[in-house]
Amino acid sequence: PVTVYPNKDIASVKVAERIAELIRSKQGTGEKAVLGLATGATPVGVYEELVRLHREEGLSFRNVVTFNLDEYYPMPPTAPQSYVTFMNENLFNHIDIERENIHIPDGTLALEDVAAFCLNYERLIEEYGGLDFQILGIGRTGHVGFNEPGSAPNSGTRLVTLDDLTRRDASRDFGGKENVPTKAITMGIGTIFKAREIILMAWSGKKAPIIKKAVEGEVSGEVPATYLQLADNVEFVLDEAAASELT
Ligand code: F6R
Repeated sequence: PVTVYPNKDIASVKVAERIAELIRSKQGTGEKAVLGLATGATPVGVYEELVRLHREEGLSFRNVVTFNLDEYYPMPPTAPQSYVTFMNENLFNHIDIERENIHIPDGTLALEDVAAFCLNYERLIEEYGGLDFQILGIGRTGHVGFNEPGSAPNSGTRLVTLDDLTRRDASRDFGGKENVPTKAITMGIGTIFKAREIILMAWSGKKAPIIKKAVEGEVSGEVPATYLQLADNVEFVLDEAAASELT
């Protein structure tokens, strides 16, 4: 289903409320809430609202485990562009999550250790009983996570090569496309699909053409987000501008 809100602020609060509900529903059960998290501009408002709920309404994250979708490769965690830095600044530094419950693909691994790391990332998610809730943005290539065009629907966590358009879109953060890493470690389409609930968010007219393809286009590896049409636990949460090309 597609839900359209008047603007991203209202939409972000709604998504944050659903995450908060999940977290509260697990409190006192001994089970953890297992969240799949995204970086980038799209989820910033959701994280802001989660921080507000923590500060002002006592929402605790002590029973929360998180798995981030992706990280550039190579990438030191302390770099300003790392997704570790992004998550710390936008969410983790402001809530009471236990550091040991945070998982983000490791951009510092030696190449020969990447495959084992990726298998272990999948295993860890399974050990926690799978992802309860996965939030996604969408890139202009149609990527979710960093599953670029050509990704297989059953793909797992792995090292991938970033699309040229993705690197161009990231060039501002890195002071030029030539400084954007060519690779990333990302959860696969198959990993994302196993989540019990998936929300893909998109804001602004810049995303309208890819949202039209993702929601209404033919399902194909050319636009990996179209695979989400095949799942019944997926919701596209849009602002009016991102939804403006839908029929
Ligand atoms: C980020 C990620 C990417 C972004 C996408 C949109 O962890 O996996 O798929 O969600 O590139 O980026 P923004 O939100 O910056 O438009």
